Amino acid sequence: MAVFRVKSVEQSIRDTEAPEHRLRKDLSALDLTVFGVGVIVGTGIFVLTGRVAKETAGPAVALSFVVAAVVCGLAALCYAEFASAVPVAGSAYTFSFATLGEFPAWIIGWDLILEMMLGAAVVAVGWSGYLTSLLESLGLRLPAALAGEDPVFNLPAALVVLALTAVLVAGVKLSSRLNLVVVAIKVTVILLVIVAGLFFVEAANYTPFIPPPASTPAVEGLSAPLIQVVFGITPVAFGVVGVFSAAAIVFFAYIGFDVVATAAEETRDPQRDLPIGIIASLGICTALYVAVSVVVVGMQPYRELSEAAPLADAFKAVGQTWAASLISIGALAGLTTVVMILMLGQSRVMFAMCRDNLLPRGLARVHPRYGTPYRITILLGVIVAVLAGLVPLAEIAELVNIGTLFAFVVVSLAVVILRRTRPDLPRSFRTPLVPLVPILSVLSCVYLMLNLPVETWIRFLAWMVLGVLLYFSYGYHHSVLARRPRG
Ligand code: ALA
Repeated sequence: MAVFRVKSVEQSIRDTEAPEHRLRKDLSALDLTVFGVGVIVGTGIFVLTGRVAKETAGPAVALSFVVAAVVCGLAALCYAEFASAVPVAGSAYTFSFATLGEFPAWIIGWDLILEMMLGAAVVAVGWSGYLTSLLESLGLRLPAALAGEDPVFNLPAALVVLALTAVLVAGVKLSSRLNLVVVAIKVTVILLVIVAGLFFVEAANYTPFIPPPASTPAVEGLSAPLIQVVFGITPVAFGVVGVFSAAAIVFFAYIGFDVVATAAEETRDPQRDLPIGIIASLGICTALYVAVSVVVVGMQPYRELSEAAPLADAFKAVGQTWAASLISIGALAGLTTVVMILMLGQSRVMFAMCRDNLLPRGLARVHPRYGTPYRITILLGVIVAVLAGLVPLAEIAELVNIGTLFAFVVVSLAVVILRRTRPDLPRSFRTPLVPLVPILSVLSCVYLMLNLPVETWIRFLAWMVLGVLLYFSYGYHHSVLARRPRG
């Protein structure tokens, strides 16, 4: 059937050589790892840790970070094999096109738009929150209509997105240098939290480590996890169940290692460097997260943690305001790179989709001087800026999670399929224990998805229906494969 037409791996790689679509190859394994850490460490650890410990997991939030890390680790092993076999911009989109066919690839591309575009907007809003609080501590107050808790239009969020768009148009090497500096700042701040925080840990705050299950307003109605509603269980928070529900939310903190794969065409030696970049950045972040969450829940009783700025406020609570200010600055810097790299990844996925003519091809033109896909980058920048100006932060992060988990499921399945359909393909990195690892990856991702609220599922399905309509009204007829059926 035409909707399952496959684009061969060789064709995908050949397309990257076309002069009008060639990206500049500048990045090394270290650049990619820094890229990974730059996009991974953000709102998840700086903001969600507090809310989740308080409402869903208690001090056991550290265990939730471990659970989420295991799920991501399994998926990362699958991503690494694919990235080494198909080093083409577009990540999960390209991988699916090579295995499952055009329509599934479109669905994944559409899904990645949900992950990265919405993710960038969410993190930009978080950035604006930190900026507002930092300016307030300096005695400067922005008008309530333009910043703060519930603005009419969130101006700082929109402006930071536009500024980062300009950096991305100017060239990926420049953005990678900027990223290096910012990553150094935020990792230093996180290490400061871990080391300085240790002095204020009180053993009493760890008991009970897993608070007994309880019914809370946070998990009622459409906000209840799907798994509890489906099995008719009265929704509860805390307990062992709470640890897993919390894992589905703090999963957001790990999003980004998959974005490393979108930089494939700009990497000097992608076969070697992509697996290193993906796995190293995930490993580093896991260690940082588990340590930070253990320390923070030890500093304050979990019920007293702040929801907006838990790391900074834990230091305020023990009278260390100097540390609180430093952490706010680190968070501000940290969130900047997350927004930037999510937009970078997004532009590369869309670049690949335009090149295949599932979206208008003219958008994929590369800038003659900067070597970047400037049209897409600018278009996206404007959309994300408007979204960031208008969208409220809260549940949208969960929508981003479900989109990402869905992409992980498809990539894990695709690894097994590609092993069967193209055993001959050179793979410099091989996922261990195939098909066991991919199957475990699928099961664990689906399990986390089931732990997300019902309303998140409804929004996700609505987005997907929109994607299907778009495919059949545009991509299906315009696709390059419609005119080049043999790939
Ligand atoms: N992992 C990124 C964050 O936590 C998306 O902000």
